[in-house]
Amino acid sequence: MCGIIGYVGKNNNAINVIFKGLKKLEYRGYDSAGLAVIANKKFKIIKSVGKLYNLDVILKKNFINANIGIGHTRWATHGKPSKENAHPHTDFTESIVIVHNGIIENYIELKTKFMKKAPKFKSETDTEIIAHLLKKNYKNNLLHTVQKILTMIKGSYALGIMCTEEPDKIVCAKQDASLIIGLGKGENFIASDIPALLPYTRNMIFLENGDIAEITAEKVIIKDIKNNVKIREIKNIQWDTMQSEKNGYKHFMLKEIFEQPHTIEETFRDRIYINEGKIHIKEIKFDEKYVENISNICVVGCGTAYHAGLISKFLFENFAKIPTEVDIASEFRYRGPILNKKKLVIVISQSGETADTLAALRLAKSEGCETIAICNVIDSSISRESTNVIYTQCGPEIGVASTKAFTSQLSIIYMLALDWGYKRKKLTNEELKKYLKELWEIPSKIFQFLKKSKDVRNVAKVFVKKMNKNKILYLGRHINYPIALEGALKLKELSYIHAEGYAAGEMKHGPIALIDKSMFVVAIAMKSSRVYTKMVSNIEEVKARGGIAVIIAERDDREIASKSKYIIYIPQTGEFISPIMTVVSLQLLAYYTSVFLGYDVDQPRNLAKSVTVE
Ligand code: G6P
Repeated sequence: MCGIIGYVGKNNNAINVIFKGLKKLEYRGYDSAGLAVIANKKFKIIKSVGKLYNLDVILKKNFINANIGIGHTRWATHGKPSKENAHPHTDFTESIVIVHNGIIENYIELKTKFMKKAPKFKSETDTEIIAHLLKKNYKNNLLHTVQKILTMIKGSYALGIMCTEEPDKIVCAKQDASLIIGLGKGENFIASDIPALLPYTRNMIFLENGDIAEITAEKVIIKDIKNNVKIREIKNIQWDTMQSEKNGYKHFMLKEIFEQPHTIEETFRDRIYINEGKIHIKEIKFDEKYVENISNICVVGCGTAYHAGLISKFLFENFAKIPTEVDIASEFRYRGPILNKKKLVIVISQSGETADTLAALRLAKSEGCETIAICNVIDSSISRESTNVIYTQCGPEIGVASTKAFTSQLSIIYMLALDWGYKRKKLTNEELKKYLKELWEIPSKIFQFLKKSKDVRNVAKVFVKKMNKNKILYLGRHINYPIALEGALKLKELSYIHAEGYAAGEMKHGPIALIDKSMFVVAIAMKSSRVYTKMVSNIEEVKARGGIAVIIAERDDREIASKSKYIIYIPQTGEFISPIMTVVSLQLLAYYTSVFLGYDVDQPRNLAKSVTVE
């Protein structure tokens, strides 16, 4: 949710650095954007509504030489997307300017308490109050003023602040929203996320909650609210810069779908030992005794990560015989979950910053649970706070709809469930080896499928041409039921078509009423599945009511050919491994449908990649 960037250096290039950084952060929010630079001791502020393209048009006509500046790309929380509500925000005299990612929870209280006689605020945001408070309390030292006003503020923030009285520095602060400092030579940066900094430096400091930093071209000082100096480790980030570029693909999402054979392999690397029939995830600090005694697992996530959680239930229960509950993170803490020391809580989050997932993790820790985080973003809040963290190793995921992170999350869950199944003596070494072989073959099977994805494009074309009621049902059973949910989620986020995922057996209890001859029903019917014949019966029920079946089937399935004109064939896999394969076909189907409808695949309306507010 919202991205911030800041630059201070010796070159008069601040505008370019900030704009390029905003491009990399645009996935975090894209309803408006803006930047502020200091030129001739005055702020120049440029804002625009809509995607960054609009800001670019203005900047091209108004280039300003400046060596310091901050920028912001917004996902609206308080106040509609408009120029007034776009960041940066200033005090009334325009001597302090700020950008903010997060939510100031007590902004109304602060407004009434401290700003009684103030003229009317310029925006409806929760952020503007901070600029006024800073001005009101400013006494020649921006850092000290920030330390002072942060004692008044409740909520989450990554802040970037500049002041015309001290035109050579940016002060930034972090609380429950990601903020990274990039260290250059004669120049320094701040940003919400790693990709914005990769073109300039790999040396980064991940600020911690409560950190306030003063950044000039030559120096970075980190302190806390009480003015104690904080020493933070400088990390060298090895992400490939190409991973945050489109690399010849039309969209990030397409690139990320095609990266999956590689990202799954990377996630397996040094964790699966195929010849020995062994799994070793060195990040997990449990001993065998602990694994033997796990009595319950609770898995928590949002969106696509939640769907990975739903699949984990099948795997932990079938392979390791551990009872598993799965929760949507935003519901978890309100339902009064029974948590105790014997429970293992696994949180899944690509970004590692999702507010509800972070809150679930904190609750679990406060109740004494052991925790594992499955995250993609290095040093994110969730990965830092969890007792154990396993990284998905898939590099930056930029497309708002999650794809490669999902299949890597599944890869980790397979490894955990198989490893624990073996250690708990629920799987023999032969069984473990068989499943490991199936897993090991997945990257090349996905690669084969992606090479020939004509089937998918054809179905997407038919969707666009024939669908007249804007609704599609996705059916799956057993371990592919969560994939029906994920397929429907992908389609609705990218194409604005109402799609609903359903357990196929439940179709008779409601959705069947929707079926008529304009209704498409996507059914996942894996021949290797124990519920294959039942899925085929469900397909017949759809057809009997005039519905149009689109079937995801295994390549060697001859029987299915007679069931529909629209079949997407995928390579054959074992029953429990199949979701990691079936999902790729549905990712691609959603992608092409959106492309053929002419929508913005990488930045669908109203969504944001990293949901850092509740
Ligand atoms: C947003 C994104 C989804 C993602 C979900 C959870 O809704 O658009 O793609 O699955 O957040 O994000 P996380 O970073 O916690 O996996």
